[in-house]
Amino acid sequence: MADADKIALIGAGRMGGALAAGWLRGKGKVDPENLLICAPRATEEMGALIREHGLKRIDALGPRTAKGVGLVILAVKPHVFFEMADSLAEILPDDCAVISVMAGVNIRTMTELLGDRPIIRAMPNTPTAIGKGVIVCAANAAGETRRKEADKLLKVGGRVEWIDDERLMGAVTGVSGSGPAYFFLLAESLAGAGESLGLPRELAERLAAETLVGAGELMKSSGLTPQELRRQVTSPNGTTQAALDVMMGGSALPELMRHAVAAAERRSRQLGDSNRN
Ligand SMILES: NC(=O)c1ccc[n+]([C@@H]2O[C@H](COP(=O)([O-])OP(=O)(O)OC[C@H]3O[C@@H](n4cnc5c(N)ncnc54)[C@H](OP(=O)(O)O)[C@@H]3O)[C@@H](O)[C@H]2O)c1
Repeated sequence: MADADKIALIGAGRMGGALAAGWLRGKGKVDPENLLICAPRATEEMGALIREHGLKRIDALGPRTAKGVGLVILAVKPHVFFEMADSLAEILPDDCAVISVMAGVNIRTMTELLGDRPIIRAMPNTPTAIGKGVIVCAANAAGETRRKEADKLLKVGGRVEWIDDERLMGAVTGVSGSGPAYFFLLAESLAGAGESLGLPRELAERLAAETLVGAGELMKSSGLTPQELRRQVTSPNGTTQAALDVMMGGSALPELMRHAVAAAERRSRQLGDSNRN
């Protein structure tokens, strides 16, 4: 393969490790020879991947190792990126594109620090680690030309969605980025409610977790909307109706969700504004 196909993965923690595992173990989307791991330490999982595929790992990109790199994946915490940005800007080839999975670092900031180049900002969520995530992307004008490539690479983490207006990334964070935690809380609360009605704690936890997973899979495989599925399982005046009347009386749950997601969106904007300080 040509040198320009070289991909440098900067940061090999949970997210970087999950992506690399997907590229190499999943459907072999990246030739191991073209993948350069740039991280001072390798996690156990990453170490295994490095040995299994004979990957090259270096502590950090330098002028020599950056030669011919056509794509950089930024999978470090934002503060680490801000520390390394100046030296990266100096050594990255002009035509090298960037895909960032960093939360809260916007394309303008990356352009200011790394120069005008194709940049794609991606917002994954935790199920990306098992290939069941959703990853929402936005690109600058130059990044549009690398969209297909990014799509293919990020797909190993789950479903890839694109937005045209990057300012919606805060709302995305509030829905899918932070979303897994809402469902964990729902399972926790449901189990707690079962326990308060006399179910043994562990049984209540299993019932709640399996119900959440089953409902999610049903939603995905049926192709029906959540609203349609809810109506299907709600017989008039039945048990489900009794519970939903409590949750939806006065729009209680939809209203609570609206406030909660708006708070996450606000926080995402605040963090985005403050993470260079
Ligand atoms: N995990 C998620 O679900 C998720 C979701 C959305 C967005 N993100 C974003 O993804 C990025 C990575 O998150 P993560 O969960 O993968 O965090 P993480 O597990 O802490 O991974 C960050 C990795 O970067 C390494 N690192 C530290 N200094 C470095 C350097 N100078 N050069 C290269 N690597 C360095 C860290 O190594 P040491 O630990 O040895 O210092 C660590 O392995 C973050 O920006 C986060 O906002 C993650």
